[in-house]
Amino acid sequence: MNDVRDQYEAFPYPARDPKDEAKRLIKGSPSLPVEMDHCLWNGQRDWSQTLRVLVAGGGTGDGLVQLAQLLHAAGKPYQITYLDLSSASRKIAEARIKMRGLPNVQFETGSLLNAAAFGPFDYIDCCGVLHHLPDPEAGLAALHNALTPGGGLGFMVYAPYGRSGVYPLQAAFNRLYGHLPPKSQLKHAKATFAKLPAAHPLNRNPNLGDHKQSEAGFYDLLVHSQDRAFTVRAWADALTATGWKLASFAQPGRYDLAQFADVPADMDALTQMATAEKLRGTIKTHVGYARRKGDPPPAELNMMARIPHLNGADVQKMAQAVAAKNLPKLRVGAEEIDVTIPPKAAGLLAAVDGKTTVNDVIAAAKQTPQEGLRLWQKLEAALMPWGLLHYSGFLR
Ligand SMILES: C[S@@+](CC[C@H](N)C(=O)[O-])C[C@H]1O[C@@H](n2cnc3c(N)ncnc32)[C@H](O)[C@@H]1O
Repeated sequence: MNDVRDQYEAFPYPARDPKDEAKRLIKGSPSLPVEMDHCLWNGQRDWSQTLRVLVAGGGTGDGLVQLAQLLHAAGKPYQITYLDLSSASRKIAEARIKMRGLPNVQFETGSLLNAAAFGPFDYIDCCGVLHHLPDPEAGLAALHNALTPGGGLGFMVYAPYGRSGVYPLQAAFNRLYGHLPPKSQLKHAKATFAKLPAAHPLNRNPNLGDHKQSEAGFYDLLVHSQDRAFTVRAWADALTATGWKLASFAQPGRYDLAQFADVPADMDALTQMATAEKLRGTIKTHVGYARRKGDPPPAELNMMARIPHLNGADVQKMAQAVAAKNLPKLRVGAEEIDVTIPPKAAGLLAAVDGKTTVNDVIAAAKQTPQEGLRLWQKLEAALMPWGLLHYSGFLR
């Protein structure tokens, strides 16, 4: 663990300048409140209740800042605890929260293996951390102990196939330079990297770019001393072994075998996802949500009563493109995905504002309930697999 702490003391990750908080908010999965609600609580969380959050391995604060900012802006009560081994990372995260003037955030320096001592929590963000633990399952178990019944985990862990080229380089750099202090490791690894052939799998891998962004990114991707990638099966097994159950991936479409082949009738859901992961070949991280294995799944809500949100899209622009039948391909990592939405659904899209139910969206688009619902289901089938459509009462 000391090597890992030394790395993040020398290279807080990701590289961030607190001054940039004045210009932009970095958003991403997991830990978008609407996405959390959709994936964990079927869009039915009572947001008038204080959300107690742990950001476990919070780094320089991307997940922390996103959550605190979105909850604060929406006027929802929250209490967030940030926890990380690295005090250099904490300093940056603290400065970012201060720049934004966000209240109700507590900072702790320590290991997530002691998470329960700071809890309990309704939601835990653990993004890009567990694969750096010597025993990721011990980390998962510790987080499970810190969670209240009915709570949820938002995770990101590394996946192998989209990271082709990374692990042989990590092994070589660790063998050659692992005995040096982090800054010298970086210097030597960069010099060696510059001599690799253009045809090296890493140089040919369009899924990865972190090593080109910053020194911290280069170190994190290629010089890490403790880094394990999980296949979807290995990740599901690790969750199950530690009392968790996968609720949903943020982009379940990436694991949909039907996109590639006829699905054998007797193939279970996990084997389908594992086979799709091998066929797709581009998945470099698994991003999603898990709940406690023993918790009952949240109740179903009638479709007409659900409140839809479009994630990150300019709704009016998208509606115009759908009406004109020129919706551009979706960008999912390094892939481009075709989605088909009937032009007649454009009016429905235009009425989505995060506060209006499907019933009222259909009425606003001047569709009959029957035809409106038929079109809505097509729209949902096109967008939900890619994490572009969620249901949540967050903004009500
Ligand atoms: C790759 S960074 C991810 C940071 C942040 N979650 C994000 O997604 O931007 C990993 C972070 O996990 C922290 N970390 C690693 N092992 C930890 C542990 N056992 N307990 C707490 N933090 C840990 C590191 O110090 C580092 O800041």
